[in-house]
Amino acid sequence: MKVLVAFGTRYGSTVKVADAIASEMRSDGHDVDVTDLRERVRIELGRYDLVVIGSPVFIGKWTKPAQEFLRKNAEALAEKKVAMFVCCSDILFEGKIEAARKMYLEDVAASYGLTPTTTGMFGGEVDFNKYGMFTRFLLSKVGARDAMEDRGVETSKPYDFRDWGQIREWARELA
Ligand SMILES: Cc1cc2nc3c(=O)[nH]c(=O)nc-3n(C[C@H](O)[C@H](O)[C@H](O)COP(=O)(O)O)c2cc1C
Repeated sequence: MKVLVAFGTRYGSTVKVADAIASEMRSDGHDVDVTDLRERVRIELGRYDLVVIGSPVFIGKWTKPAQEFLRKNAEALAEKKVAMFVCCSDILFEGKIEAARKMYLEDVAASYGLTPTTTGMFGGEVDFNKYGMFTRFLLSKVGARDAMEDRGVETSKPYDFRDWGQIREWARELA
């Protein structure tokens, strides 16, 4: 298959997730292109048998370039085999997973008229040292920092909760 892995990212941790998906599929013999949607390059979707689209979640939303990609290409994507994934911190909280899957994947797919063959919800990385003052303030105000601390995460250091086994298995199943 000719595969496109198109992803959004703000702080960079989703880059490696997209690369892991691509490398897993390549090792299965597929021809995979990876596109960082921040670059906003024109993509010829007609060339692909499968389009994998992913984004991290910020305040309940996909990144702007990822939303823009979905909006601009909704019609073409509706005709294609599509898989969608998100990276998010809600995965750390058992009680939030079901709602997160609905909001970040099912509702997003439906809002662009897409019916993905597969969806994946993965972890990501949080690093409060990378965030600006406003973002740190916002995350503290909504209780996100405390919730992570209560969950045993030391938020003064980067915390990487990407599960590479889960990500690679998902990619293998896509193929
Ligand atoms: C300001 C901010 C808001 C976030 N909002 C959410 C959210 O609403 N839901 C969630 O599950 N994760 C949320 N996250 C966690 C990110 O999705 C996670 O850190 C992701 O791995 C970031 O990806 P990136 O490094 O590729 O930008 C938020 C993180 C930040 C910094």
